[in-house]
Amino acid sequence: MAVLDQLTSQQAIDLENKYGAHNYHPLPVVLSKGEGVYVWDVEGKKYYDFLSAYSAVNQGHCHPKIVGAMNNQAQTLTLTSRAFYNDMLGRFEEFATKTFNFDKLLPMNTGAEAVETALKLCRKWAYEVKGINENEAQIIVCENNFHGRTTTIISFSNDPVARKNFGPYTDGFIKIEYDNLKALEEVLNNSNNVAGFLVEPIQGEAGVYVPSEGYLAAAKALCEKHNVLFIADEVQTGIARTGRMLAIDHENVQADILILGKALSGGAYPVSAVLANDNIMNVIKPGNHGSTYGGNPVAAAVGIAALEVIRDENLAENAQALGKLFRAELSRFVETSSIVNAVRGKGLLNAILINDTEDSDTAWNICLRLRDNGLLAKPTHGNIIRFAPPLVITKDQLLDCVSIITKTLQEFED
Ligand SMILES: Cc1ncc(COP(=O)(O)O)c(C=O)c1O
Repeated sequence: MAVLDQLTSQQAIDLENKYGAHNYHPLPVVLSKGEGVYVWDVEGKKYYDFLSAYSAVNQGHCHPKIVGAMNNQAQTLTLTSRAFYNDMLGRFEEFATKTFNFDKLLPMNTGAEAVETALKLCRKWAYEVKGINENEAQIIVCENNFHGRTTTIISFSNDPVARKNFGPYTDGFIKIEYDNLKALEEVLNNSNNVAGFLVEPIQGEAGVYVPSEGYLAAAKALCEKHNVLFIADEVQTGIARTGRMLAIDHENVQADILILGKALSGGAYPVSAVLANDNIMNVIKPGNHGSTYGGNPVAAAVGIAALEVIRDENLAENAQALGKLFRAELSRFVETSSIVNAVRGKGLLNAILINDTEDSDTAWNICLRLRDNGLLAKPTHGNIIRFAPPLVITKDQLLDCVSIITKTLQEFED
């Protein structure tokens, strides 16, 4: 088969199954085109995208401004490595640091790399600035976290599927319950070796767990009191997804280390970053850390365009307003539903809890039916379905989606 021959859905699925590692369990739909909130499969059927590539496509598929910036830059200069300067990286660094109010940015590519970067930065700060004895620094993390797939990151996961048989694991992490200030305070009171607290402002992969109001601000205050770095992983929650530029903005928290990825490129290209002030970031010296592609000119051009789109199209405000509407509409459905127990979330990062056990296939079957009815979503953790459309969605489109979702759910009511 020639590479450019048109494939049917089944042919594309068969190819992936035969030649690709089975490290994902995709919903059976094969996409070949995207624009705004819509994607099309290879047979031409149109869907609302209610996953947005796990919140990477906040600006909508193939946003012309982002694609334009990418194309322009790709025709001019794509990669220099950091062995040399390029004329785009500094502009991106300036734009992003001013947007998020930090002194400096360290560019990487994927979310997991940025998390790794933050952990290394935090440890180095702990030894060189805080004065913890070498190799004794501890970083507090939360149960049910999701921060990526590297060996160190899965070392502090408690998801057996992500962890089992990938040991030996990396030391130096203390796990506490999420949304539990007492647990955080207890560890901080009982150890002088804590360097940082790594937290997702909303636990996305775990099922869109929104912590109690005030949790993040109080956690940050506790960290400050104990000279411990508050590290916000906003890879999924950041870039306007929850109705503010960052989810921690809802509580007016300024992180010590901020981790961004996904929508930092609007889904066009892998771009991630770690931001911190000089007193922290300056512990990183030449040779300590890096990546061949990190900070490349295409990533820089795309990153600027992606942030400009969020600002110019008021996507945080749209996410805030339409998120409220979405939860209000679905809450009305939930009141009389036997199949959905609850709807929860912030901005346009939401989830419904299906009234069935975690190992049931009800949520999966609902997602298959949603697909048939023209909307793509995916279960997370068995009986939870996440709903995260591109933030460019309009009110009319959102109400159309609410109608697809509630009609589909109705088919599962007993
Ligand atoms: C909170 C959080 N951190 C990190 C990551 C990892 O990002 P990536 O898949 O780009 O490595 C994810 C991905 O879902 C995430 O949700």
